[in-house]
Amino acid sequence: MKKNLVIAIDGYSSCGKSTLAKALAKKLGFIYVDSGAMYRAVTLYFLRNNIDVSDDSAVADALQHIELNFHSRDYESHITLNGEEVSDEIRLMPVSQNVSEVSAHKIVRHEMVKQQQRMGKSKSIVMDGRDIGTTVFPNSPLKFFMTADPKIRAERRFKELESKGNNQTTLEEVFENLAHRDYADTTRKESPLVRADDAIILDNTNLTQDEQLAFAIGRVEPLLDR
Ligand code: DC
Repeated sequence: MKKNLVIAIDGYSSCGKSTLAKALAKKLGFIYVDSGAMYRAVTLYFLRNNIDVSDDSAVADALQHIELNFHSRDYESHITLNGEEVSDEIRLMPVSQNVSEVSAHKIVRHEMVKQQQRMGKSKSIVMDGRDIGTTVFPNSPLKFFMTADPKIRAERRFKELESKGNNQTTLEEVFENLAHRDYADTTRKESPLVRADDAIILDNTNLTQDEQLAFAIGRVEPLLDR
């Protein structure tokens, strides 16, 4: 039997990780897993239920009441929180502004990593996030570390929000939020965002989506047994 392959994509906020991951998954017939959506959905639950992140036992207890599931439709990844579709709500500012704090929590990370590792056990997947190549799948044979100019990243995320009808957030707010999350993600104690030694750097500031996909496919092909 062919062994399953896990492709790990890490990098800064809003630098096109999910776009590349989705395109790769589609091209290869793999499952796409958006690990950030899991941290976002947990954050949404904490906000709705007023969970105090500094209270470890409240956090541990809350996690027992959270069930996350992914549903793939046309390679768009949809996430449900206790059966409710929350894919759009988790992208809005209240979640974006609180997700760094929630995702820095040791107990939260421990639980999410456990669930993510289970997903890659028997299936070929492309998973994007911040610690996929370093912590979740350190033995993955193919890791990408994505980066791009922060201004370009903010513009891309701003346009994405606008296209979904969100006109309440300014470009400056998006830029500030990205800068804040980059700082929090790279400096936190629990599995901070760092490039795995064996991760391939992909700076897509000046690359089209097709160029990025071609670059990535070029690295995947030697690993596929045909
Ligand atoms: O990929 P994203 O921007 O939707 O992720 C939201 C937040 O979740 C991000 O600010 C950091 C956190 N995150 C994480 O800590 N580890 C991951 N594997 C994925 C996301």
